[in-house]
Amino acid sequence: MKIINIVGARPNLMKIAPLMEAYADYPDIESILVHTGQHYDDRMSDLFFHQLGIPEPDINLEVGSGSHAAQTAEIMKAFEPVVLEQRPDVVLVVGDVNSTIACGLVAVKLGVKLAHVEAGLRSFDRTMPEEINRILTDAISDFLFSSEQSGVDNLLREGVPKEKIFLVGNVMIDTLLKYRSKAEASKVLEELGLEPGGYAVLTLHRPSNVDDSSAFERIFNAVEVIQRDMPVVFPIHPRTRKNMEGSPLADRMHEARNLRVIEPAGYLEFLKLMSSARLVLTDSGGIQEETTILNVPCLTLRENTERPITVKLGTSRLVGSNTERILSAYKDIMAGRIRRQGTPELWDGKAASRIVRILVEGRSLSGRRTT
Ligand code: UD1
Repeated sequence: MKIINIVGARPNLMKIAPLMEAYADYPDIESILVHTGQHYDDRMSDLFFHQLGIPEPDINLEVGSGSHAAQTAEIMKAFEPVVLEQRPDVVLVVGDVNSTIACGLVAVKLGVKLAHVEAGLRSFDRTMPEEINRILTDAISDFLFSSEQSGVDNLLREGVPKEKIFLVGNVMIDTLLKYRSKAEASKVLEELGLEPGGYAVLTLHRPSNVDDSSAFERIFNAVEVIQRDMPVVFPIHPRTRKNMEGSPLADRMHEARNLRVIEPAGYLEFLKLMSSARLVLTDSGGIQEETTILNVPCLTLRENTERPITVKLGTSRLVGSNTERILSAYKDIMAGRIRRQGTPELWDGKAASRIVRILVEGRSLSGRRTT
């Protein structure tokens, strides 16, 4: 059984790592790793391969950045000859980035079965590029692997046959549980002069927050207040850095003495930073899940989430980009009023092995129709 696995952007890497490991238990599986090159900076890609022990990609499409249409189209053009040459039984995509839908479309149009890991998540906000990618990828997938029950419910509501849907748990949490103790040994707190439990972590990269200067300003107004109480570490995403350069807020950011803007962190360093933080402020999807397991309060700087379990059971609270809401939730955290209610079902470190077993057992489904 030949499986082509796709990575493109940073959050794909911690999802693919446990799958690459799980394939090793099946000598009959030939797994090929394709990197689209959507993310290409060392700190957004290579560092994660190294820290997570992901094998070098067999093929790198080196597509790089571009508008949505250009990036998606370039990935499709570059991936099609790979599928034609390799003739895989399954193409496996993870998450909701442009690489996910681009490679998914190529696969199904060549008659190759498509597996989607993290299927069914819905923010119900179609202004998010990721929501479009999620809906379209799920509509064409043959194996839909969901990380939480809401994903299964959404897919059933959309008319996906239940035989195609599998609740398997969360591959990102597989990686977190595996590397948690290694991350503990990181010296990042000492290097940044931080005390465990005595600082906040901030990440921001959603276009709705960082391409819109008024939203960024509203968030920053709250961060400015919080950093008077404790250091705020801000590993800055390349999109955010670009938008900040030359913006009127850049000066205010420099003046905020306790705001520590640092380069994008490695996986282990970031895991250590999160696990020892007093709180995390983020617009990332994955970090809502990771803080749930780490039991660290998380203020989600979005109006909605495709991961409702993190709000229901975890420590995530939706606060949007509204200064007052952020500060009011911050006060709740400081008063100990945000706590975890439980652990999501199957977030136990075994999601990848469940997925691979299902792919192997579903082999009869995977008739090869590549022309
Ligand atoms: C992408 C995903 C988003 C995901 C995020 C994680 C899509 C539509 N968006 O957003 O869902 O949450 O990755 O990080 O797929 N850049 C660099 N170096 C890099 C990569 C990007 O400098 O290695 C800069 C470029 O200027 C680029 C910009 O960042 O234009 C945005 O990159 P892109 O991949 O288009 O989207 P992200 O914002 O990273």
